Amino acid sequence: MLYGLRNYGFFRYFCNRFSAFLKNHNKAHILHFIKMLDINTIEKLEGVATPFYYYDIDLFRRTIAYAKEISEKYDIKIHYAIKANVERRLLEEISAQGFGADCVSGNEVLHAHRCGFPAEKIVFAGVGKSDKEIHESLKFGIEAFNCESLQEIIVINEMAHTFGLKANVSVRINPDIDAHTHKYVTTGLYENKFGISQHEFEKLIDILKKSENINFYGLHFHIGSQITRVDEVFALECQRVNDIVAYFERQGLKVDNINLGGGLGVDYDDPDENPIADFEGWFRTISENIARREYQCIHVEPGRSLVAQCATLISRVLFVKSGETKNFLIMDAGMNDLIRPALYGAYHKIENLSAAQRTFFPTHQAYDIVGPVCESSDVWGAGRLLPLSVRGDLMAIRSTGAYGQVMASRYNMKDLAPSVFSDDLESAPEVKNYFE
Ligand code: LLP
Repeated sequence: MLYGLRNYGFFRYFCNRFSAFLKNHNKAHILHFIKMLDINTIEKLEGVATPFYYYDIDLFRRTIAYAKEISEKYDIKIHYAIKANVERRLLEEISAQGFGADCVSGNEVLHAHRCGFPAEKIVFAGVGKSDKEIHESLKFGIEAFNCESLQEIIVINEMAHTFGLKANVSVRINPDIDAHTHKYVTTGLYENKFGISQHEFEKLIDILKKSENINFYGLHFHIGSQITRVDEVFALECQRVNDIVAYFERQGLKVDNINLGGGLGVDYDDPDENPIADFEGWFRTISENIARREYQCIHVEPGRSLVAQCATLISRVLFVKSGETKNFLIMDAGMNDLIRPALYGAYHKIENLSAAQRTFFPTHQAYDIVGPVCESSDVWGAGRLLPLSVRGDLMAIRSTGAYGQVMASRYNMKDLAPSVFSDDLESAPEVKNYFE
């Protein structure tokens, strides 16, 4: 075992030479288990300074084209939740498909617009919109505010009155439904801060009817993220929504728009097996369970499912350390680049791209894969079984396109990991050759 942990320089030199020999003689059999990244791509990635987010533009395009196709089949409108990833190139392609944007800050509204989303396709959600954000979005003429408290509706009405405007307002309802997902991304229970609860419905309807500078646009729901029990959870959401819609209509408020939120989960365990999320199952479940009147428009606002699988955080092994009870692989990417494992205990599949080319040396070993940040929670994965890994190996942290770069920080004064696109690899910043 220790053989691989000592003499890294020689070992790596030997591996690289032997791999080059193998590659030149038989490329086809190498990398049989790395499906997303073919050997030519990995060769190019080897030359880029790490860490960086690598975007497979082809997979991204296939994902949004598929989502669009299925949404048209079921006549469901998509607003992309841009909080998942605000990369300009992605947004420009998503807006070009005709999707709307779901934003949660004034800056997101502005950014969405700059990336091609017309104001009338931008909705603005969030429990705490500042006066400045409301003011600017009002002037901007966005599609609708998704309001989360009675007070927010009153404030928007007053501001709209001051500026002589009329605002479209959808009301976010807290349906008290368990999305069966991680506690931190569960949003539809009464214990969560989101939406307006049933005990305020009477007051809510009164306010909506009296507010002259507000146009009641519809109802909004979002019960959580990374939902994998799709049939069960979304069917339940729809049934609850049906009751609430019927109640509002009985009170004389026509519900033209029903926004069911986002939340469709992706396969973090096996991104190669399921690179595209189950849009068919999601939209079919909605169609089968929503009591849709013919004048009603159904909206959804997926974030993760549109962008998670197309990006991979590429990192390098800095050091291999033998601890008292375990082996550590210390990477140059850390929780500053992707906080999901530290924050939610989230699982991301990790592959050693360099070792995948060393087919002659198949020994596997358990590692605690960790980042460089001075926090004990900076762990990519504990006890992960990987091919024997050495300093300088290129590593792939998969399914990192959603809530990756957008949640990155400069903690420890680290640089932000840049984006590198598959169709732009030639011009990616070159690695300084520390490792040879
Ligand atoms: N609509 C609303 C109102 C939301 O709050 C969210 C996500 C979405 C739509 C999009 O949900 P998605 O389709 O992406 O599940 N940082 C966490 C996820 C937080 C989700 C926040 N809201 C993570 O890394 O898992």
